[in-house]
Amino acid sequence: MTAQLIDGNVLSKQLRADVAARAAALLARGITPGLAVVLVGENAASQVYVRNKVKACQDNGLHSVLEQYPATLTEAELLARVDALNRDPAIHGILVQLPLPAHIDAQKVIEAISPEKDVDGFHVASAGALMVGQPGFWPCTPYGCMKMLESIGYDLKGKHAVVIGRSNIVGKPMALMLLQKNATVTICHSGTKDLKAMTLQADVIVAAVGKRNVLTADMVKPGAVVIDVGMNRNDEGKLCGDVDFDGVNAVAGYITPVPGGVGPMTITMLLVNTLEAAERLFPI
Ligand code: GUN
Repeated sequence: MTAQLIDGNVLSKQLRADVAARAAALLARGITPGLAVVLVGENAASQVYVRNKVKACQDNGLHSVLEQYPATLTEAELLARVDALNRDPAIHGILVQLPLPAHIDAQKVIEAISPEKDVDGFHVASAGALMVGQPGFWPCTPYGCMKMLESIGYDLKGKHAVVIGRSNIVGKPMALMLLQKNATVTICHSGTKDLKAMTLQADVIVAAVGKRNVLTADMVKPGAVVIDVGMNRNDEGKLCGDVDFDGVNAVAGYITPVPGGVGPMTITMLLVNTLEAAERLFPI
């Protein structure tokens, strides 16, 4: 038996069509939802990510601007740019690509973004809203994972979800979203003593560590749902996730592939958040 694939490309296509329709409805009212993407430095992976984000906007009826600065940009200069974008009425969402050069305090820059434009969901106001269940922007990657679970009609109530990884961008918000849907949630991390004992209990496993083969077939309960957030390279240089796909595929009930799983969903949810930011400003 092999697991059913949750295809992030197929689901993204459906969700992006909805974004494009909603963007067209706003455009008919004279409003073009706009995203500003700010990149500092020459990180090669970041350059690919931001290009994909800008292209996704263009393909789905959203206005986007890409601001690229050299790694020598000062923190004060970046904060001044964020301030200008906060005031720019053509911009509804602001994304400062991480990582930033070491001389810039990333958290300080994130906190400078107006929470109404924080489409990455990284501002403490957004994190706090998620924690107390108030409206706010959810970080795109875990939000995309929730949409993947929703797409298979999975009811999380009473299920045991194990999240591997505790980053502010994925692990922690992921756990809160699963909790909000009434799952029993365990967060595992580098200090967890017996990871396998935890994952074997799980109905849902989200692997978000950034390391190959964190999850292997012997660690998965038959029929479990496995979501792979990892983006790594194997020895041949091929893109792979945190999950040993071939092994786990034979045990799990559902699995997300890499590539073509969570990756496209992250960008899709960025579009959704940007659209939502514009819609909140101009309610019907
Ligand atoms: N770097 C890696 N992932 C992300 C993301 O989702 N948003 C931002 N701003 N930077 C990132």
